Amino acid sequence: MPRSLKIYIAGLVAVSAVALAVTSLVIPVDDAIRLRLFEDPQADVVAGMVFWVAITLLASALPVEMPRGSIVNTSIAPLVVMLSLGGPTAAGWVALLGTSELREIRRDVPWYGTLANHAGLMLPAVLGGAVSGAFGTVSDSPSLSFISTVAGATVFFLANLAITAAILSLRHGESAVDIVRGDAPTFFWTFLALVPLAWLMSQIYVLPGVGWWAVLLVILPVYLIRLSMRRYIEMRQMFTQTVASLAQAVDARDKFTSGHSVRVKQISVDIGRTMRVGERDLEALEWGGLLHDIGKIGVPDSVLNKPDRLTKEERAIMNAHPVIGANIIAPVTKLAPELPIIRHHHEWYNGSGYPDRLIGEEIPRLARILHVADAFEAMTAARPYRMKPLTTDQAMAELRKFAGIQFDPTIVDAFARTHWAAGAHDPGRASDPRPLVPLLSQAAIRMAQVGPVDPAPAAAPGAAAGAPETAS
Ligand SMILES: [Fe+2]
Ligand SMILES: [Fe+2]
Repeated sequence: MPRSLKIYIAGLVAVSAVALAVTSLVIPVDDAIRLRLFEDPQADVVAGMVFWVAITLLASALPVEMPRGSIVNTSIAPLVVMLSLGGPTAAGWVALLGTSELREIRRDVPWYGTLANHAGLMLPAVLGGAVSGAFGTVSDSPSLSFISTVAGATVFFLANLAITAAILSLRHGESAVDIVRGDAPTFFWTFLALVPLAWLMSQIYVLPGVGWWAVLLVILPVYLIRLSMRRYIEMRQMFTQTVASLAQAVDARDKFTSGHSVRVKQISVDIGRTMRVGERDLEALEWGGLLHDIGKIGVPDSVLNKPDRLTKEERAIMNAHPVIGANIIAPVTKLAPELPIIRHHHEWYNGSGYPDRLIGEEIPRLARILHVADAFEAMTAARPYRMKPLTTDQAMAELRKFAGIQFDPTIVDAFARTHWAAGAHDPGRASDPRPLVPLLSQAAIRMAQVGPVDPAPAAAPGAAAGAPETAS
C-alpha cells in the first residue's frame, strides 16, 4: 500500500471517529427512530437502531462494482433514511455498523479497505445528518421533510464520492477527477432513484398504524434498482469482453502481432488520460484500440503473414484494412464513436496517410492518438522484416523525428508523459519538440507535396532504417 494512502486512511479514520464521538455526545438520536414495539422509550430507540442496522446490512450484502473500481450498493437507501429519521448520531452509527459486507468477513478486502469503506460512509453520514437536521426532520411536514432528505443526501453523496475517489486515486495512481467523471453518472442515477424511495421509507416508518413492517415492502423496488445496476455493469463487461475476443481473433492470425490490439488499447487510453479527454472518449479509445485492425479479417493470409516486403498490389490490399474495418463495425450502432478511429488510424499528420489523406486537425483527434500508440507498439514489437524490436529510446526518437510529419506533435508530447516513455531519452525535451511543418497552414502543406506521396510504409520516411512502421 502506498505511504500516501496509509496516511490518508489513518487521517480519515481519525476524523470520522472524532466526528461520530462528538456528535454522539452533543446530538441525541431523534425519537422518530423508535420501533414502537416496546414501552420503554430508550429500549424502543435501541430497537429502532437495530432494525435499521439490519436493513442496511441486508442492502450491503449485495454490492455492485463499478467499471472504475468503486463500489455502489443499495445501502445508500437506508443510510439516507437515517439522515432525516434519526439525525447525524443515528446515521453515523448505522453507517458504521450496518455497512459490513460478506467480503470483509471472508477477508476478501484488505484491513485498510475495510477501515476506509466504513469511515468513508460514516463521515458523510454524520455530515449529511447534520445538514438534513438543519432543514427539518421526518416529523415536519412532508414537503419540508423531503427537502431535508434531499439536502442531507446531497451532502452525503458528494462527501462519499470525494472520499472514494481520493482513495482510488492514491491506490491506483489515477487522477481523482477522472475517477469522479467515470463513476459519477452511475452514482448520480442511483442516487436519483434511491433518494425518493428513502424519503418514502421514512414517511411510512413514522406513519401511525403502519410502521416498520411496511418498510420491508419498499425493499423490493430497492432490490430491483440494484438488479438493474448490476445488469448494466454485466452488459458492459460482456460487450468489452466480446470486443476483446474479436480483436484477439484478428491478432491470432498473425503470430507477429499477438497481443498488439490489447497493447495499443492500453497505450491509447494512457495517452488519452494524460490529455484529459472525456470519459466517453476514453471508452472510444478502449474499444477503438481493440478493434482498430479488425479490417485485417479481409486481408489474405498470404499478404498478412508475408515475411518479405509487400509488393505495391499487396500493399494496396493491406492498406484497405481501415476501410474494411469501418465497414464491418458500421452496423453496430453502439460503436459509432469508434468508427472514425478505425477508419483514420493510418492518416498522417502531413496528409500522406490513408485512406482519405486527411491533414492535421482534419484527422479525428482520437485517431491521431491511436496512430501514435499503434506506431509505438509496432516499433517496439518484433516484426517479420525487423526481428529485433526498437528500444524505448529509439522508438521515442522516431516519434519525435516524425512529429509534425506522420504524428501530431501534441500527441507525441502527451505520449512522452505516459509511463510507456518513462525513463526514455526524449530528444523532444531538450529542444523545441514542435517541428516547422505544423506551423505551416494545411493548405501550404498540401501545396508543398510534390506529386502523390506513396502512403506505403516501405516508402515512408526512414522506413528502411526501422522508422515508425504503422502497417499494423
Ligand atoms: Fe492498422
Ligand atoms: Fe495496429
